[in-house]
Amino acid sequence: MAGSKRTTKKTPVTKKSGTVNPPANPMWGGQFAHAPAEILSRINNSICFDQKLYRQDIQGSIAHARMLAKQKIITDGDAKAIVTGLKSILADIEAGKFTFREALEDIHMNIESALKDRIGSAAGRLHTARSRNDQVATDFRLYVRDAFDALDNALMALQKSLIARADEHYNSIMPGFTHLQAAQPVTFGHHLLAYVEMFGRDRSRVQDARKRLNESPLGAAALAGTSFPIDREFTSKELGFDRPMANSLDAVSDRDFALEYLSVVAICAVHLSRLAEEMVSWSSAQFGFIRFSDAFSTGSSIMPQKRNPDAAELVRGKSGRLFGNLVSLLTTMKALPLAYNKDMQEDKEPVFDTASNIMLCVQAMTGMVADMAVSKSAMLNAAGVAYANATDLADWLVRELKMPFRDAHHITAKLVKIASGKSKSLEQLSLADMQSVESRIRKDVYSVLSVADSVKSRKSYGGTAPDNVKKAAANAKKRFLS
Ligand code: ARG
Repeated sequence: MAGSKRTTKKTPVTKKSGTVNPPANPMWGGQFAHAPAEILSRINNSICFDQKLYRQDIQGSIAHARMLAKQKIITDGDAKAIVTGLKSILADIEAGKFTFREALEDIHMNIESALKDRIGSAAGRLHTARSRNDQVATDFRLYVRDAFDALDNALMALQKSLIARADEHYNSIMPGFTHLQAAQPVTFGHHLLAYVEMFGRDRSRVQDARKRLNESPLGAAALAGTSFPIDREFTSKELGFDRPMANSLDAVSDRDFALEYLSVVAICAVHLSRLAEEMVSWSSAQFGFIRFSDAFSTGSSIMPQKRNPDAAELVRGKSGRLFGNLVSLLTTMKALPLAYNKDMQEDKEPVFDTASNIMLCVQAMTGMVADMAVSKSAMLNAAGVAYANATDLADWLVRELKMPFRDAHHITAKLVKIASGKSKSLEQLSLADMQSVESRIRKDVYSVLSVADSVKSRKSYGGTAPDNVKKAAANAKKRFLS
């Protein structure tokens, strides 16, 4: 630009065509003669989504202003005016009386500009020893911290609902599946408690990631720190952080906390989608294990008989966008040089989308778990089909005839073949049929062939025996709900 004459005028500039360019952005337009191209405004503008951060932005600014006054960087009078002004802006936004302006780009400049309108020039002192880079990092951490806490609470409510149903069904027998083929009978309570464990691990991931998130970027300024005598410990404490972040470059360029949030949610969405899928199957006429009330069923506009499990399908389906949001931010962050880059403005929409959708999913799932009516008879009937007691017969051969398990497996397979040839279940085979394969089989073999006996016998730690499940439900209450 050397030698070229630049206009420093900030008044509207008349172009040849006679159209008038609006003035430059008053927040940073010192060296700019006029406004950005319309398309730059549109691609650059984030106020349409980052207005969600208004509360965190004001909270961060109040802490910063108080610190500036405490350190005598600004006067107490200015700090007071700033804090009062910010609180009035907060009240107006919450009352729906605030107009966000696209020309001011983002939430930070919208609020600072409104502050200037309300308190005059003292507003200009708020940005001392601060940059939008540490400001947005602070706001976003506060937002994600709340999102972690909300998720933790919602998952606890889901666990509560699952544990209550598990306790109620500690003795309800259903087929346990592998390869979606009936494998061995289990109790419905045991099946539900498996999900309680998964959501428990999700919660421990939430709590773990929250600890790592809870450091304050505020005071890192643009990237290098500041020459003002700020007190980062003070602002960190004011905002409920454990400590200030140790490196200013890292503080403004790190988005690990958002990536961890999206990852934790993605794994949680895997769990939700598995339960949702099971609910879709169980509520079909072919399974008939559960039925949703009208509150959780939708009809078809053409087929009058339909009761569709839409909420379960949507929980299953939304896992797609939740995974996508993680991949989206991973890709945005990949290979970004230090420190702040505008690319990072793309961090917000995936996180906002994930935050609202995961809450919908967890809450809908909680509602469905409480709502579902369970058909014990349909489950019990299904548990008895497809030779789900074959392992019990093999185990009897091992226990009573001291047979190696591998031999018992072969003999049982032969018996299953004979039974299936006669269209009978194992317990319907005569003793003579049994003895035609293994002469030492006795009458008491029949005592282990009922599904109830099968389930009752699985008393090993973590197994499905009703006594275990009753205790496991009580234990889960202590581990997760207190
Ligand atoms: N709206 C921006 C964002 O979300 C705020 C930070 C802007 N910083 C900057 N140096 N332009 O990332």
